[in-house]
Amino acid sequence: MDERRQLRIGMVGFGSMGRTHAYAVNNLAYFYGTLPFRASVAGVCTTSYERSVALAEEYGLGTAAHDFDELIAREDIDIIDICTPNTLHFDMICRALDAGKHVLCEKPLCVTAEEAAIIARKERESGRTCGMVFNNRFMAPILRAKQLIDEGRLGRILSFRISYDHNTSTFAEKAPGWKQTAEFGGGVLFDLGSHIIDLLRYLCGDFDFVQGQEQIAFDRHADWQTDADEAFYITARLKNGACGTIVANKLATGASDDLSLVIFGERGSIRYELMEPEWLYFYDNDRPSSPIGGERGFTRIECGGRFPAPGDTFPSPKASVGWLRCHVGSMYEFLSAVAEERAFSPSLADGAYVQSVMLAARESDRRGGVRIEVVAP
Ligand SMILES: NC(=O)c1ccc[n+]([C@@H]2O[C@H](COP(=O)([O-])OP(=O)(O)OC[C@H]3O[C@@H](n4cnc5c(N)ncnc54)[C@H](O)[C@@H]3O)[C@@H](O)[C@H]2O)c1
Repeated sequence: MDERRQLRIGMVGFGSMGRTHAYAVNNLAYFYGTLPFRASVAGVCTTSYERSVALAEEYGLGTAAHDFDELIAREDIDIIDICTPNTLHFDMICRALDAGKHVLCEKPLCVTAEEAAIIARKERESGRTCGMVFNNRFMAPILRAKQLIDEGRLGRILSFRISYDHNTSTFAEKAPGWKQTAEFGGGVLFDLGSHIIDLLRYLCGDFDFVQGQEQIAFDRHADWQTDADEAFYITARLKNGACGTIVANKLATGASDDLSLVIFGERGSIRYELMEPEWLYFYDNDRPSSPIGGERGFTRIECGGRFPAPGDTFPSPKASVGWLRCHVGSMYEFLSAVAEERAFSPSLADGAYVQSVMLAARESDRRGGVRIEVVAP
């Protein structure tokens, strides 16, 4: 008899991320071999019961629920996985925790500071394992970058540039969705900014100060309007004194899923591009230098599929990897934490921290910068 702990997941929302999470759950054994737990999607709930029934059948998602109340009341569900539009996260997290479930939530955590504070407190008091989906933490080059930074190989961090570019707001004919509507928690700061603010904090530490600037370049597209930021620019100082820029931009003509970061330290630097996820670039300032070059220069460190064991066997560590793989890693680490009854990082409190940085940046933009007064010659 299989005595491994059964982890049964109820998914709410099954758009692009619901599908991604279900793929991760259903394929864990391929990537990690025999798991120390068993995991399955036991139920799904979307805006329409008929649609949920069809999805459950198509993707093997257990039994469809008529609504969220029914999903969280079910005793055959241990974990609620929230993949709905941003404004729905707060209420769903609170109700799932009140029902005694473990909770995994997509980014951003929520919309307001009040919501973030309530969620962080509820998480602390719940005794449940909760987590955010900040999947970029689980790319192999980021795991390696974290190791190098924690080992002190960069020394004191001096400065950084991190950006996340998409081209999606440059299409006049694009059909608007909730992500282009402020009322539903849309806007690029919450959407892409949340990822890179978390990533920067994960690698370099807590924030001290931010100054933000929002941009809406196309308030009127072909036949629709947006009131949500299409690009957001932040200058930031961290508590360790490092300064730099954070840019979330959907006005980036030619970009695909271009997350890019560079971190400069006293002893070394790192560079990483999400669209080239096989490599981490590391400059070691401790290498010998000489008038004709010495040994200094950026090293291209092979990372690719070199995930922590047992996630390093399939496909081969030298095979190329993609975006989906970091969602598989994120899901594996979260479910391992649930099975072992321990806390998970990134937690909902980490999501609340990111929320406070984003809201501070937005508030600083509202207060305004200093308008340039050109002095007449
Ligand atoms: N981590 C990542 O890589 C990543 C990428 C994209 C989106 N996201 C996040 O994932 C979340 C979902 O985004 P998406 O792109 O999948 O959106 P989507 O629009 O593709 O899907 C949303 C889903 O929620 C369902 N839904 C809406 N209202 C509902 C309700 N009241 N009850 C039940 N279901 C409801 C819809 O039917 C749909 O199935 C968002 O918070 C977004 O920010 C994360």
